[in-house]
Amino acid sequence: MKLNMTIAAATVLAASLVTPAFAQTSGADIYKSKCQMCHLADGSGNKGMKVTAFSKSSTDAQLTLATKNGASNGSMKMQGYAGKLTDDQIKAVVTYIKTLAK
Ligand code: HEC
Repeated sequence: MKLNMTIAAATVLAASLVTPAFAQTSGADIYKSKCQMCHLADGSGNKGMKVTAFSKSSTDAQLTLATKNGASNGSMKMQGYAGKLTDDQIKAVVTYIKTLAK
């Protein structure tokens, strides 16, 4: 237990050394580092992976749910980001995705 706490603290420290302002990372930065490889810079989706473009008809709630729980299109699976990104980061990246939606 004590060891786990030490590892957790060391991980937090290491993360903060690499990305000092991680909590303030913008939606665009999160998108570039974690989403762009599948969804492409303009959000149109990687055709080879059969990822579709973000749609303007998707609601905030739908986009947030997919980001938190993941999604799949049969040939490609997206992991959920709940627990990997904070709620604030998910909100920021969803706000950014909406600027890309067609
Ligand atoms: C490994 C590839 C991959 C990565 C990385 C990835 N996604 Fe996805 N994403 C998919 C696939 C596949 C789907 C489901 C099929 C589709 O919509 O084309 C999807 C669907 C979605 C949807 C639902 C689409 C809609 O129109 O409702 C959202 C929202 C989404 N992703 C957001 C994100 C965000 C935000 C990130 C980064 C934090 C991310 N994705 C990272 C592959 C990925």
